[in-house]
Amino acid sequence: MNFDGELEKRKNLVEEILETYLPKAEGEQRIVLEAMRYAVSAGGKRLRPILMAESAALFAKESEVWRTDFTEVPGPSTIGALPPFMAAIEFIHTYSLIHDDLPALDNDDYRRGRKTTHVVYGEDIAVIAGDGLLNYAYETAMRAFGKAVTIEDYQRVECAMNFLGRRAGVYGMVGGQCADLLAEKPGAVPTEETLLYIHKNKTAALIQAAMTIGAVLAGADEKAVAQLTKCAENIGVAFQIQDDILDVTSSLEVLGKPTGSDEKNHKLTYVTLHGLEESKKQVSKLSVEAVDILRSFPRENAILETLVERLINREK
Ligand code: FPP
Ligand code: MG
Repeated sequence: MNFDGELEKRKNLVEEILETYLPKAEGEQRIVLEAMRYAVSAGGKRLRPILMAESAALFAKESEVWRTDFTEVPGPSTIGALPPFMAAIEFIHTYSLIHDDLPALDNDDYRRGRKTTHVVYGEDIAVIAGDGLLNYAYETAMRAFGKAVTIEDYQRVECAMNFLGRRAGVYGMVGGQCADLLAEKPGAVPTEETLLYIHKNKTAALIQAAMTIGAVLAGADEKAVAQLTKCAENIGVAFQIQDDILDVTSSLEVLGKPTGSDEKNHKLTYVTLHGLEESKKQVSKLSVEAVDILRSFPRENAILETLVERLINREK
């Protein structure tokens, strides 16, 4: 398997899907649309949509999952509902990055190797570009109902909508971000419990949404969805610990964003709590467990396994 080539193909397909759903920058609201496009088109790994489709491929044939033409999809018709959800989750991820970089939050000028949205468009437009992407994500995801035919199809899309809303919102990413902001305040006492809550919600929640939505749309049963939920939690927590490790060990050139940002913001991280060595050990423990869960499913997905291993051990 040529993993890099396969990943590149998938990334290109995600770019096509994003382009299909992103509105053109025109009309009275042109500037906010331009800022939304600027943030989305900045590249990025497109990890969440790829994880979504690859999780679907655990339960549906790969040839059904990775295609540009979803009008004639054989098999369960909800596979055709993947693209709107893939676009929606990347829009939500991108809005969270725009807001996270704002001066009121992390105050970062670079992201994905380019100037952040507020640096280019101003804080006012960056705030509403984030709002615009968040709303447009749900408008996009709701198009998936149009792909449903049977009652079961509708139920799967409804279940996927629930995962998306719940895990992106106050009982997921927004909740995690809230705890993260509080942990930065002077006088906050960092605990292991708080740190885990932050990682599980701020980062893992959206990865969980991605993987479980893919599985649900492909017709996975409840037990499989529960196993994937645990697997995605491990991936998300390991991914965030690795993010924190890179903030200490990497550079702006390699990472595309400034390093040392956690120290600057007095941030509670696994690294500040346990040190680099212990953090690296924890990353590999979580990743082995995650891959073991993936291997327990009847269908093998070598791409997904390799992706998880690479992600967790990534250098950027
Ligand atoms: C990098 O993803 C992003 C994270 C590790 C998640 C951090 C969480 C937030 C910024 C939540 C913010 C929430 C609110 C409500 C503002 P990545 O490495 O996949 O980035 P890429 O898409 O650029 O590759
Ligand atoms: Mg932050």
